[in-house]
Amino acid sequence: MALLDDQIERILWNEEQISGRVTELASQISDDFKGFESPPIFVGVATGAFMFLADLVKKIKLPVFVDFIRVESYGSGTESNGAPRISFDVKIDVKGKHVILVEDIVDTGNTLSCLISHLESKGASSVSVCTFLDKPSRRKVYFQLVGEGRFYRGFECPDYFVVGYGMDFAELYRNLDYVGVLKPEMYK
Ligand code: PRP
Ligand code: MN
Ligand code: MG
Repeated sequence: MALLDDQIERILWNEEQISGRVTELASQISDDFKGFESPPIFVGVATGAFMFLADLVKKIKLPVFVDFIRVESYGSGTESNGAPRISFDVKIDVKGKHVILVEDIVDTGNTLSCLISHLESKGASSVSVCTFLDKPSRRKVYFQLVGEGRFYRGFECPDYFVVGYGMDFAELYRNLDYVGVLKPEMYK
């Protein structure tokens, strides 16, 4: 088996850059939410957000709830197939609570727009989004946050298919501690 690093053409953000930015995001969020009486619920979008979620909540200086939700929208390829479906719902009751949806990347916006409506319909009093990467050039759906919800993003991502730090190609490469672009031959 080829070593992971040998399958990567280029690194976009390394571990140190990621951790520096995650610290900044966490301190911004801690600041923004410290005035609320109930702890925010950090809802990671499985599977991609698992690593970012873990790093982020470790640096939040407030009590928080942590949960997961799963949406199916991509198969094993690189293109969205349109209509996302919630296949695993949150365990915590979000009614009247402040929810922060945590994503690894926002691409077309399909996944988030589906999740935001879902959480709003469950009675969340606000829905914010914290995404590690944002690819605005690919947006098809302009989602709207709920209540006093805020939008946080780590970095703006150029229009490459990126892997690592939770992000996959065909379910692989999620365990890289950096974000990179695969060598072209790996997509075959
Ligand atoms: C990826 C990514 C986001 C979503 C973004 O998830 O983690 O959740 O796609 O794309 P969109 O803005 O076009 O909806 P994916 O569906 O590949 O599942 P995964 O997290 O399990 O990899
Ligand atoms: Mn995902
Ligand atoms: Mg994926």
